[in-house]
Amino acid sequence: MSIKIEFSKSDTKLKGAIILTSFEDTGVALKTNQIDKEQKALINSAIDTDKGFQGKNGQVLRIATPSDQKISQIILLGLGKTETLTALQTENAGGKLFASIGKAGIEEATLITEKSKKLKAEALTAHLINGFKLRSYSFDIYKSKKDKKEQIPPFKKLKICAAHTANTKAAFEELEKVTQGTFFARDLVNTAPNDLYPESYAKRLHDELKPLGVEVEIFDDKKLEKLGMGGITAVGKGSEQKPRMVIMRWNGGSKKKDVQPIGFVGKGVTFDTGGISLKPGAGMDEMKMDMGGSAAVAGLMKTLALRKAKCNVVSIVGLAENMPSSNAYRPGDILKSYSGKTIEILNTDAEGRLVLADCLTYIQQHYNPSFVINLATLTGAMMVALGHEYCGTFVNNDSLWKQLEKSSATSGEKLWRMPLDDVWSKEVESVIADVQNLGKGRFGGACTAASFLEHFIEKETKWAHMDIAGTAWRKSDQPTVPKYGSGFGVRVLNDLVNKYYED
Ligand code: BES
Ligand code: MN
Ligand code: ZN
Repeated sequence: MSIKIEFSKSDTKLKGAIILTSFEDTGVALKTNQIDKEQKALINSAIDTDKGFQGKNGQVLRIATPSDQKISQIILLGLGKTETLTALQTENAGGKLFASIGKAGIEEATLITEKSKKLKAEALTAHLINGFKLRSYSFDIYKSKKDKKEQIPPFKKLKICAAHTANTKAAFEELEKVTQGTFFARDLVNTAPNDLYPESYAKRLHDELKPLGVEVEIFDDKKLEKLGMGGITAVGKGSEQKPRMVIMRWNGGSKKKDVQPIGFVGKGVTFDTGGISLKPGAGMDEMKMDMGGSAAVAGLMKTLALRKAKCNVVSIVGLAENMPSSNAYRPGDILKSYSGKTIEILNTDAEGRLVLADCLTYIQQHYNPSFVINLATLTGAMMVALGHEYCGTFVNNDSLWKQLEKSSATSGEKLWRMPLDDVWSKEVESVIADVQNLGKGRFGGACTAASFLEHFIEKETKWAHMDIAGTAWRKSDQPTVPKYGSGFGVRVLNDLVNKYYED
């Protein structure tokens, strides 16, 4: 269940739990006349007593009030230094606020904010609420009602008491569209693989995005075979659940014929057992997140449609389940990809690149996009290299990288540029076929995977490959991202589109 955000005028009578912001350098601004002298004294003495609370970003201090008062408790949220506070830091503080009060039995609270040196009150408030909301995400569709009742009552409503109500509301609603896309991506990643398989996934994308004005086209397994998509077809062969390819188009930009769209591609392996090159059993359940790239692409499409982005976008996701069976593809097989290039299979667990290869060729040949960015939970090696904090990003074009880097900084979704090199490109050349789906040695697995994909990029295409293996799914909470499906990619790519690719 999603929390409710309600906006009210700044002179509304306060009751219940109230939240005030506090700066490390300037303290709590107690200018508001909605709290009386006594309450102000209470706040001051609580701050004096609690030496641990210094108003540092994300610090929370809860102060109880005498039981006869309308205001039941006062919650102070530290924002750090007013001079340097950024939108991102404000969001993080909002996230930490939820982490500290969201599961404490408080069902409603009223937030009163101040402006900072650099951020107007409207922007500060909007980012704070957005962070709060991002962290409040929960995925409980599999919890039975009985179980839900036994828990502490969840946080339900955040009331915003703002001076510039209309502007604050408008600013928040813009941010919320990105949050909605992020939540959609998280939901998809968190859904169990017996419920989310290629056919049901494709339907879900259709049902969610079509009403928002996104054109959704689905290719079933027969169509994929007919088109000669040997990569995605091979990966899906071992499963009863047949593969799908979904093309999503948002046409919010110029209607002129020769204008190139921008393109996104996502890996949607709904479950990755490794196939015949079976993965070890421990932790295999986590391989339901192997569709995280496609989920981010879908979440991005949702956001772009919600905010009616002024651009033309084509996105393709390749959906398949990688299973071992007597029908499964094998190590030793040689496939013909949609591009015409043949691929020697050396390990059926390197399946994502096969799915992506067909999607990448299709998008370039049929839509001639001005760039293609693909997202994929592609390699364990990426996780070894950069852990969970940074997404390794391979880019064949410096100006596209500069844009991604800037968007990374504003969105807080961290990207780190990784190298593309002929050495790796040669490593994936096969003796018997055109390419092989493994590098030669044990090392540099994220790089050889990227170079494999590069074999399917046409010379003039600007391209970026984001290996989100470490960032799509985490086992610990982050300030604005609760554990498990993170929706990583929606925010940074929405920022990229918004900054550089809208009319
Ligand atoms: N889906 C995995 C990569 C992965 C691993 C994502 C861990 C998230 C967490 C991918 O299909 C895979 O199995 N890659 C292999 C490649 C190898 C066989 C070259 C890997 O990383 O071990
Ligand atoms: Mn695999
Ligand atoms: Zn995989």
